[in-house]
Amino acid sequence: NIKRAVPNRLLPWFAENKRSMPWRSNRTPYRVWISELMLQQTRVDQATPYFHRFMKRFPSMKSLAAASQEEVLKMWEGLGYYSRARNLHKAARIIVTEHHGRFPATAEEIIKLPGVGSYTAAAIGSLAFNLDLAVLDGNVIRVLSRLFAYTKDTRSTAAKKELQQWADDLLVRGRAGDFNEAMMELGATVCLPKNPNCSACPLSRCCAARAEGNPLEYPKKAPK
Ligand code: ADE
Repeated sequence: NIKRAVPNRLLPWFAENKRSMPWRSNRTPYRVWISELMLQQTRVDQATPYFHRFMKRFPSMKSLAAASQEEVLKMWEGLGYYSRARNLHKAARIIVTEHHGRFPATAEEIIKLPGVGSYTAAAIGSLAFNLDLAVLDGNVIRVLSRLFAYTKDTRSTAAKKELQQWADDLLVRGRAGDFNEAMMELGATVCLPKNPNCSACPLSRCCAARAEGNPLEYPKKAPK
């Protein structure tokens, strides 16, 4: 029973096994936002030193808004996808001028910020404000498609919608941040693309792909 296994097995597994990451301590909306933007296209290992340097140079929303775009791009140098840095700078100025420097606390307001799509809005909403929003990134898509032996091409919009609904349904109300990070952590450390470590997986007993004996078949990349 997957609905029960998530709170009873996945969340305790995460509490026991979560890796230490700088944005997982001293969790403020500002730190969550910067880290999630960095993690959109960058791996944890690569983002970590950037995160430390960024926080040292721009410790607050105010300091970021007051900086020039050039200075912000300078701190982003090497991370790539520089529109992230430009959007983040724009958003900091909007937050200072339109939200009194406080990060907006509702999904509707968060998603209006430049550079924030549905993934980032759900990540910030759940991790910083405990809103019941489920994230869907590459790791979560792989975990879900295996759990449910999902046969559609996961790159299609229709599939994304369906997978998002499963994530929404499995989300443990009131514990969205832990749920989201646990799903991402499971995908990043256990439910790996090529070498899934099913014997270490807290959800292996509910996994349809595991029952079929073919987790590597998922996520499907071509229509059946
Ligand atoms: N990838 C994206 N967001 C993450 C987070 N909060 N923890 C770990 N990996 C992530």
